[in-house]
Amino acid sequence: VSIVVLAGGESPEREISCESGACAANALRARGHSVHEVDPADVSLGEMSWPEQPVVLNMLHGEYGEDGTLQSELDRLKIPYTGSDSACSKLTFHKDQAKNFLLERGLSTPPFRLIDHQEKLPSVLQAASEIGFPLFMKPNAQGSSLGVSVVYSPENLYEGWGIACEYECPVILEKAIIGEEWTVPFLDHVPLPPIKIAPSHPFFDYSAKYEDESTRYNVINVDENPVARHVTEISQNACEMLGTHGVCRVDLIADEAGQGWILEVNTSPGMTSHSLVPMSAAALGWDLGELCERNILSAFT
Ligand code: DAL
Ligand code: MG
Repeated sequence: VSIVVLAGGESPEREISCESGACAANALRARGHSVHEVDPADVSLGEMSWPEQPVVLNMLHGEYGEDGTLQSELDRLKIPYTGSDSACSKLTFHKDQAKNFLLERGLSTPPFRLIDHQEKLPSVLQAASEIGFPLFMKPNAQGSSLGVSVVYSPENLYEGWGIACEYECPVILEKAIIGEEWTVPFLDHVPLPPIKIAPSHPFFDYSAKYEDESTRYNVINVDENPVARHVTEISQNACEMLGTHGVCRVDLIADEAGQGWILEVNTSPGMTSHSLVPMSAAALGWDLGELCERNILSAFT
């Protein structure tokens, strides 16, 4: 087969995607694979010339690459690809839909309200007071914490609203659960070691993710930590219910009582040299090349 790494694209996460794509392509070349790198911002997938027997390693993040659009295009072209199918990608990319889906199936996710970004401030204030402070304000369909802020009181509401509305999609107001931030990577429905995140920022925002060297990550052995075991279990339930495929990553908060609250499921998680999924895989002795190989093999199952 010929590996086609898709990266770049036109979503606000383009820069991270380019990095994920370059890291993955280099890691696969180092293992002797021939790799084609394609940026859908440059060519349309329906019109480009594909190599013989292509398989797509999807390293696109955000709109188009992670929301089911790309997946249905590749289905039409009958080209196998890594990661979740179109329906699952679409569901998980819309935080409100994924949260409702999980709630209906008995999994915990913080209370929330979805508000159209064209709503006036009094409705936002009303929703915020129903949820209580502090709360997170997030564009409903974005990644990498872009547009996300934590709102501590009604006085901060307007600022957070403005930031979230820049992405021109509905905005989700979500109760901030106080506790530890965790993430659990998966390959198909098999968990990789969970990671506990200790950001030096009030939450794990864009800058803590990509710019800040002081964020601490601890890969935790589930056999030695009951909270790690619990967050892994509920994340696995979520992946099974949602029907994720290949590599994905579940983000959660464990509250002070150790109870896990699922924030979201990322069906195309970052694969840069400092991303969380490769960090967890490294604890199993898999380098990025091996992780990508396994993800590609999963595209055929
Ligand atoms: N959306 C970013 C790339 C992530 O989830 O890792
Ligand atoms: Mg995300």
